[in-house]
Amino acid sequence: MGAGIIGIGSYVPDRVLTNADLEKMVDTSDEWIVTRTGIRERRICPEGKAASDLGTVAAIRAVEDAGIKVQEIDMIICATITPDMVFPSTACIIQNNIGIENIPCFDLSAACSGFIYGLEIARSLIETHRYRNILVVAAECMSRVTDYTDRTTCVLLGDGAAAAVVSKVEDNYGILDTYLGAAGKYSNLLYVPAGGSKIPASHETVDKRMHFMKMEGSTLFRIAVNAMSDSVKKIIERNKISPEDIVLFIPHQANIRIIQGVAKSACIAMDRVFLNIEKYGNMSAASVGVALDEAAKSGKIKKNDLICMVSFGAGLTWAANLIKWSKND
Ligand code: ACO
Repeated sequence: MGAGIIGIGSYVPDRVLTNADLEKMVDTSDEWIVTRTGIRERRICPEGKAASDLGTVAAIRAVEDAGIKVQEIDMIICATITPDMVFPSTACIIQNNIGIENIPCFDLSAACSGFIYGLEIARSLIETHRYRNILVVAAECMSRVTDYTDRTTCVLLGDGAAAAVVSKVEDNYGILDTYLGAAGKYSNLLYVPAGGSKIPASHETVDKRMHFMKMEGSTLFRIAVNAMSDSVKKIIERNKISPEDIVLFIPHQANIRIIQGVAKSACIAMDRVFLNIEKYGNMSAASVGVALDEAAKSGKIKKNDLICMVSFGAGLTWAANLIKWSKND
């Protein structure tokens, strides 16, 4: 038996934050942002709304796409590093929003790699035959941890959500392989210092802007290219395929130059790489999910196609998978 994606959906908020808007907020330029990152605009979640609101819309769309009833979902996993609250889990809030009772729900913290981590957990559980339809949601409001006075990070991030229903599929289809990794020794390269149990919220932490993301961009850049290209190479080698067998690569959309570096190192032609970075920037866990949904809905993936998703994020974490698409879109 295989386990794979039988329904996919995504949602981004309407509000657009353009490079021209950012030029008015920090010392930057459209030209710098486009050439150094490939990003032109990103979406921002409205005030009063949260990751669960974005995730709920994506979840409903994924369930509709799967052609099942919400009551047939028997677990929700939500990948997020920007949960609505420290607790309860955003997965529980989404469960309530979509009206399902008495199923296990939990959040998963693997930053930008969270969607691929979540798909792998779902695949493994489906293969135990104890669950039939697992909803994997990736929902992020990165704008809430972004310091809009820090030009080195604020140009990169945006908000959005994606969801997939993972279920039993035909033999030799679905998620064929996943490679996951992490290196906690690099946890100091990308983090939000305050608001957790180490440095709880206080007037001082707010004054010092410690609830915003801190990042060592150029070090991360180098590690990201190596970790993502190594992950793709592992997937290719251990499945005894070549890069040309893969119809579409769906990389994390953090920086166009990181994507180009990975493609070069793993011998992937750029015309096989799905890009939507210029519209959304980096939506953390949601990035590869939104990209997968857009690729599927625009007809770039058809039944029998091999696709490879690859990501990298805080932790540090990294992840890649190989999927034989089983849906007839
Ligand atoms: N506008 C104008 N100038 C800028 C900006 C900006 N927005 N940001 C930085 N600069 C300046 C710097 O101050 C520096 O100036 P200096 O030379 O006078 O000191 C110069 O541009 C070059 O800075 P670098 O940091 O070397 O620029 P780089 O080419 O590395 O690009 C970037 C920076 C875009 C942040 C890149 O390093 C990057 O994308 N890193 C990876 C980020 C990432 O992927 N994070 C992980 C995922 S996020 C998650 O998991 C939640």
